[in-house]
Amino acid sequence: MTEENLMEKIVSLCKRRGFVFPGSEIYGGLANTWDYGPMGTALKRNIQDAWWKFFVTSRLDMVGLDAAILMNPRVWQSSGHVDNFNDAMVDCKKCQGRHRADHLIENALENVKVEGLKPEDLDKLIESNKIKCPTCGEHDFTNARVFNLLFQTYIGPVAKDSSPVYLRGELAQSMFVDFKSILDSSRKKLPFGIAQVGKCFRNEITPGNFIFRTIEFDLMEFEYFIKEEEWEKWFEYWMGEMQKWLKVVGIDSTRTRVREHDKKELSHYSKRTADIEFNTPFGWKELYGCAYRTNFDLRNHQEKSGEKMEYFDPETNTKFIPHVIEPTFGLNRSFLMVLLSAYAEEEVEGETRVVLRLNKNVAPYKVAVLPLLTKLNADAKKLWEKLAPHFATDFDVTGTIGKRYRRQDEIGTPYCVTFDFDSLNDQAVTVRDRDTMKQERVKIDELEVYLNGKLAS
Ligand code: GAP
Repeated sequence: MTEENLMEKIVSLCKRRGFVFPGSEIYGGLANTWDYGPMGTALKRNIQDAWWKFFVTSRLDMVGLDAAILMNPRVWQSSGHVDNFNDAMVDCKKCQGRHRADHLIENALENVKVEGLKPEDLDKLIESNKIKCPTCGEHDFTNARVFNLLFQTYIGPVAKDSSPVYLRGELAQSMFVDFKSILDSSRKKLPFGIAQVGKCFRNEITPGNFIFRTIEFDLMEFEYFIKEEEWEKWFEYWMGEMQKWLKVVGIDSTRTRVREHDKKELSHYSKRTADIEFNTPFGWKELYGCAYRTNFDLRNHQEKSGEKMEYFDPETNTKFIPHVIEPTFGLNRSFLMVLLSAYAEEEVEGETRVVLRLNKNVAPYKVAVLPLLTKLNADAKKLWEKLAPHFATDFDVTGTIGKRYRRQDEIGTPYCVTFDFDSLNDQAVTVRDRDTMKQERVKIDELEVYLNGKLAS
C-alpha cells in the first residue's frame, strides 16, 4: 500500500462502510460538503466525548459552554475578523479556475510557508517561479486579491431590509463574550478554562482533500484564562497535554511534529502559535494549534461593548483583564488522522484483510453479536439484549461468518461474539479479538465482566 493510494482507500472504505458520504449526492453534491453516515456519526461522537472527558469533565479547572452560532455582528467587528480574517485568491485567466494564492505556492514549491504574506508578495512568488494552474497547466493568473472568510446571512424575511449577520468563523469569541457570565455563575478562580465543541463556517476558496478542509466543520477548543506573567508555563503545559491527547484518541504520534509560526504568519490576535502537524499522504498539514492570544480579545470586547471584563484577584486585591492560552482541535481533522493512523492491510491465508485498529474508546461498536446460523438468531438476539445496555453492540446476521468478521474488522469493532450450536448447551460463546484474531470461549454469564476488562485495557 503506497501513501498515495492510502487516501483513496480511506475514502472508499468510508463510503462502503457508512462513515462519510459526499453531501447532497443525489443532486450532484455540493462542493466539499460531507455527510457522516451511521459509522461516521458514532466515531465522530466518540472522539468528541473522549475529548470532553479528557479536557473537561476529568478536571476541576474547566467548564463547558454551548453558545449560539449566530452572534451580534459587533462581536466579529470587535474581534478583528471582519477586517483581518482574510485569504488571498487568484483566478486563472485561461480556465477561470480559482485558487488560494498561498496554497498554490505551497503546493508548487517544496518547504515554502507563505501564510501572512501580502498579496503583492504572493504575486511576485507566483511570477518568479512561473507557477502553473493545477487545473489547466497554464501560467496566466490575475493579481492576488483578498476576500473575507466569514459567511454572511440575514435575519428576517427580506434580505435588503435586514443587516447581515455572520456564521461563526471560530468558537472562541463566545467564550470571550460570555466570560463574565461564566465567571460570575461558576465562581472559578484563575487559572481556569472554558471549553466548547461546535460547528464553525469559513468561506474557504480551495477546500479539499476529503474532509481535511471544508466550508463547515466542527471545532473542539478552549480558552484557558491565566495571569500574564504565567503564559509561557501554561503554553508548555497545554502543548504537553495536547500530545497526551493524541494517544487517548489513537493518532499515531510518530507521524506528528510541532511547528512554530513565525512572526509574519501569526494571526492578528496571537503572540505565539505552535501547530501540531500530521504527515498525511498529501504532505505535512496542520492538525491542531495552540495560541497565546494575550488579553487581546477580552480587552477589545471591554472597549467596544463597554462591559468590564476584569477579574478580581482575591490574593493580591487587584483587578486585571486575564490573558489566555487557546488549544484548538479540528474534530473532522481528528477523525481523518484517526483513520489514517488506524487503517491497516494484512495478508491472512492468501487474502487481504482490511482492519481499522481504532482505539477501543472511539470504535463505533465495541462488540458485535454474530449468530452462526439463522436458526440461532432468536437466542443470539437475547444475548444482544443483555449486552446492548452496557456496550455499543452490533447484531449482524447477513452473510457467512467470514464475511461478517471482515465487515466488523473494516469498521474497527474490537470484539466479535459468535453464538453457535454449542452455545445452547454450554451457555458459552466464542469471542474473537480484532487485532490478534485469537478466539476464546467465554461463559455467557461472565461475558459482561470479561468484555469490560478487555475494553478497559
Ligand atoms: N480559535 C482559533 C482557530 O479557530 P484555526 O487554526 O483557524 O484556529 C482551528 O482553526 C482548527 O480548526 C485547526 O487547527 C484545524 O484543525 C481546524 N480547521 C480550520 N479550518 C478548517 C477547515 N476549513 N476545515 C476543517 N477543519 C478546519
